[in-house]
Amino acid sequence: MTRNLTIGRPDDFHLHLRDQQMLAAVAPWSARLGRAIIMPNLVPPVVTGAQAAAYRDRIAAALPADATLRPLMTLYLTEATDPADVVAAHAAGIIAAVKLYPAGATTNSDSGVRDFDRVRPVFEAMAQARIPLCVHGEVTDPAVDIFDREAVFIDRVLDPVRRATPGLRVVMEHITTQDGVDYVRAGGDIGGTLTAHHLVINRNHILAGGIRPHYYCLPVAKRERHRLALVEAATSGDARFFAGTDSAPHPDHAKESACGCAGCFTAPNWLPICAHVFEQAGRLDRLEAFVSLNGAAFYGLAPNADRIRLSRRDEPATWPARIPAGEDSVTVFDPGFPLYWHVEEAA
Ligand code: NCD
Ligand code: ZN
Repeated sequence: MTRNLTIGRPDDFHLHLRDQQMLAAVAPWSARLGRAIIMPNLVPPVVTGAQAAAYRDRIAAALPADATLRPLMTLYLTEATDPADVVAAHAAGIIAAVKLYPAGATTNSDSGVRDFDRVRPVFEAMAQARIPLCVHGEVTDPAVDIFDREAVFIDRVLDPVRRATPGLRVVMEHITTQDGVDYVRAGGDIGGTLTAHHLVINRNHILAGGIRPHYYCLPVAKRERHRLALVEAATSGDARFFAGTDSAPHPDHAKESACGCAGCFTAPNWLPICAHVFEQAGRLDRLEAFVSLNGAAFYGLAPNADRIRLSRRDEPATWPARIPAGEDSVTVFDPGFPLYWHVEEAA
């Protein structure tokens, strides 16, 4: 059995670091990444290149001195987004991508897009400049069942947008269904991120035997057959699939509420979870591609030059059950089983 695995330093292609007190609380848990695509859904959202540069500097200030993380910033697409600002921010190296949230689809998405025709000029400029569009792929139509919202989004929104905008590079974020996997597999100029938590939970984990708010995130976890499709995609070696944790911290009082908000905080343990999943699938040899190589290649980045070591020990790795955040705390995602992979810096 493999006991040690040395891989290129991992990147995270979908990460929420928040701002102010929460940023200070969670940033150290992502400090040893190589790069991370930083989500722009602050309140108010990061919509201009100047705001992205200022947020990048606040992140840098919140990181410990020995941090390896280089934040890759994104802009939050609104119906008022100026295509010229997007192209200029990308050309200046301030942003790596633009994020599309359908209005109302998830946490802090009120400023998102309602009428996709209104952002067509932005899509066209992005296709021209080869700027990736990161997509939260769920429709918000209240008539559509929440478990079907990803599949319906592909047909109603994503596929028409991609057909109308040849050359637009799309990342279908946090895929939760077989439909999403199949759609990414069928296309060019498209990648898909997969979270660690969607590789290990299905909807029963949220709803059976009591409602568990810390497993609630959007897109919501689906049936077991979908989880299995995600594991197959992640471990398949297909370079279009890569890790994007969607680690999304919320204060515990906001999760443990009559109307709890969506998001799982996986920054502390996502990598051991992925190692566990790949080991179970008999595909540890493909872990590095998923966490350290495929995403960088999609974004046109060289792989990180330095390496980390994962070691499998007899005793499980441990994390705090929750971390302090200002006056409150944030609960760390609990996979529900012990994790024996420990993350170390390479010797
Ligand atoms: C994210 C958040 O909390 O910002 N929540 C989530 O459930 N994943 C937003 C998102 O990525 O959908
Ligand atoms: Zn997210």
